[in-house]
Amino acid sequence: MLVLGIESSCDETAAAVVKDGKMRSNVIASQIKAHSKYGGVVPEIASRKHIEAINPVIEQALSDAGVGLNEIEGIAVTRGPGLIGSLLIGLTTAKALAYALNIPFVGVNHLEGHITAAFLADKVPQFPFAALVVSGGHTNIYLVKNYHDFRLLGQTRDDAAGEAFDKAAKLLNLGYPGGVVIDKIAKSGNPKAIAFPRAMKDSVDFSFSGLKTSLLTMLKKRGSDFEESQLPDVAASYQEAIVDVLVEKTMRAVLDNDIRQVVVCGGVAANGRLREKFAEAALKNKIDLFIPPIILCTDNAAMIAAIGEIMLKSGRRDALDLNAISRWPLVAHP
Ligand code: KG4
Ligand code: ZN
Repeated sequence: MLVLGIESSCDETAAAVVKDGKMRSNVIASQIKAHSKYGGVVPEIASRKHIEAINPVIEQALSDAGVGLNEIEGIAVTRGPGLIGSLLIGLTTAKALAYALNIPFVGVNHLEGHITAAFLADKVPQFPFAALVVSGGHTNIYLVKNYHDFRLLGQTRDDAAGEAFDKAAKLLNLGYPGGVVIDKIAKSGNPKAIAFPRAMKDSVDFSFSGLKTSLLTMLKKRGSDFEESQLPDVAASYQEAIVDVLVEKTMRAVLDNDIRQVVVCGGVAANGRLREKFAEAALKNKIDLFIPPIILCTDNAAMIAAIGEIMLKSGRRDALDLNAISRWPLVAHP
């Protein structure tokens, strides 16, 4: 089935074409430039930028896939979670296209999309598997029994891991989004230079707010003694604290539940050190590891089209009065 996917939940306007589980095109218009001077996403600006970008991005996705709009057989769109004004741009566009073309459409949970990105890679997981969804808004470990059956095993009690990266970058004046910059700077630093805290050691839940506070306290203490030459060590040590707990707790959840496969997805799964440490841990514990290519870890519409195609093929249809949902926990559904 030839499916057009649309994603606009945060600061990326994306469209993609997927057919029979294979990606035919994947176009992403990033708004980073528009938000970076504010140190984070400004919802009103995001909505405006989505309106400007959505039609050209869809046209580009169709053209890259070499298909016409009239050949599209179904539409999948992110319904939530995310910024409501941003979600509405994608959702309204999807509805208008479905109505005009007289084809079915489905609203998709963004987190379910992130997990399904693993099926667009060359090597795909088998059910059941554990999935760590780690992004700017979420840090959740699920037991995934099939495409629609999720059981939450662990989650963050406060900030998401991506948020911990973004907040640190803001404190260090490194711009937005923080994860990418910290990943880069950390490459030349010593991850053992500073002993940042690893919270909730005996649980599969996460907490990152103390880590951010400890960075703030350290910066205040060093005051004007803090020099740019110290940045790589700070970035590497801070990143290591995040990566350590993500890997350790996910592995614990995997082993506790007697699972042999793990998927790591979402924007933070683009992190070089995280990918490295997960690979080491998987090898050591004889677990099969699946991390999508970086372009499919951060927000994209191919993952939305991929899960949308599965839903449409199983007969799922949404009505044209479907609303967007800003908070939408991922739970098992038919
Ligand atoms: O999945 P995503 O694109 O959007 C959400 O659904 O939130 O994730 C965005 C998050 C941001 O917090 C960003 O800083 C983080 O992913 N991120 C990274 C890297 N690339 C993006 N974090 C660490 N290392 C990276 N290379
Ligand atoms: Zn995302």
